[in-house]
Amino acid sequence: MELSQGEIEAIQHEMSLYEDSGAATIEALKVVQEHRGWVSDEAMAAAAKVVGVTPTQMEAVATFYNLIFRQPVGRHVIMLCDSISCYLTGYEEARDHLKSSLGIDFGGTTEDGRFTLLPICCLGNCDRGPAMRVGEDYHGDLTPERIDAILTEYK
Ligand code: FES
Repeated sequence: MELSQGEIEAIQHEMSLYEDSGAATIEALKVVQEHRGWVSDEAMAAAAKVVGVTPTQMEAVATFYNLIFRQPVGRHVIMLCDSISCYLTGYEEARDHLKSSLGIDFGGTTEDGRFTLLPICCLGNCDRGPAMRVGEDYHGDLTPERIDAILTEYK
């Protein structure tokens, strides 16, 4: 598999920002994910070739960094914080409501490919727990009603 010219140029740009181009490994994975929505084994190997590291080195970084998706995800990835502040302020109700209204468990994707639901540790939004991130957007003070309203924003 080959990466697109746009992906290669974006990775090379990231590499130019580091003294050791291998340090751009995580940025290369982010570039691939931005273009493809997730990072397949083949795309990861192709990115490793551009960066000049082995696929095994690239895999180690991808496994460590939990925002790199190694299997297909929905158009919008919901990450619900399950850390202590959110746990104390209504995490369980938010979790149960998300699971039942989406009809999926953690790690699942809705049948229409709209949402993937994942747990995540602290989002740094602790004073507004329970909190979640949808794509790049942060949402806090979650209640079942607020979750319903938020989900309608994402088509
Ligand atoms: S504990 Fe949930 S955002 Fe920090």
